[in-house]
Amino acid sequence: MINRFYNKLKKRFSYITYRPLATREEYLALHEDCKLEKFSVIDKFEESSGFKIDRDYFENLALHTQICIKKSRLNYQHGRILYATLSKYIHDNSCNSVNIIETGTARGFSSICMSKAINDIGKKGLIHTCDIIPHNKNIYWNCIDDLDSKKTRKELLSYWENEVKNIRFYEGKSKTIFKNLEIERFHFAFLDAVHNYKEVISEFNYVRNKQKKGDIIVFDDVTVNLFPGVVKAIEEVKKKKEYSIKHIEISEQRGYAIAQKLL
Ligand SMILES: C[S@@+](CC[C@H](N)C(=O)[O-])C[C@H]1O[C@@H](n2cnc3c(N)ncnc32)[C@H](O)[C@@H]1O
Repeated sequence: MINRFYNKLKKRFSYITYRPLATREEYLALHEDCKLEKFSVIDKFEESSGFKIDRDYFENLALHTQICIKKSRLNYQHGRILYATLSKYIHDNSCNSVNIIETGTARGFSSICMSKAINDIGKKGLIHTCDIIPHNKNIYWNCIDDLDSKKTRKELLSYWENEVKNIRFYEGKSKTIFKNLEIERFHFAFLDAVHNYKEVISEFNYVRNKQKKGDIIVFDDVTVNLFPGVVKAIEEVKKKKEYSIKHIEISEQRGYAIAQKLL
């Protein structure tokens, strides 16, 4: 049973593995290497938004939820973008509480960054995040914590209990989860599950019907070389003129789009 579960998920994602893939020293060295990289575009973005996630907090979270073994270069700058964008949104809006939807929880990194923004600004908020990877199953996550033992996501994130309090974790495909969520408005969304046109546009259409003027959707991996379907979806959103789109490109391998509802 567990083997079938592993085979199904492992074929498609680098988020779960059969065994620890590196030593503690190797994970730490990878992290040190990532920390050396400079991202002036993101520095400027934070400056212009007026909000910036605490660097030590961010890097500690990244060590446990982003530093993994994969072929492409590691990059977790979307966490800084989410924190800054959501903080500004909450700061500029008078709503008492914010509802957030995320597709693609993975190890929980992006949800924790958004929850930290809610806590730091001192407002109420709830993040609804979904993934086909279960929350309460003991697995290896392809991260440094695997060296202790298999863990559930709940255990992996136990250090961030103040942030986890604002998060509801759902297991399943976004389409299925959406059908059962009875929430009228999503002030903020982060779409980061399946990176093809059909899935992204379908998730966008679900969220847009639950947004008002000024509400925001952040798209990850808007990168023509790697994910042309995501780029096509953003082009379509742009054509409808219902959202303004801000592109952030940090390399040929990684770009983001921030859509803000105009009407
Ligand atoms: C790029 S990762 C998300 C990364 C995460 N947001 C972060 O910042 O660490 C994509 C995730 O989407 C999940 N996923 C794949 N298909 C999905 C679906 N149909 N619905 C929801 N999640 C899905 C994968 O299991 C994977 O964990």
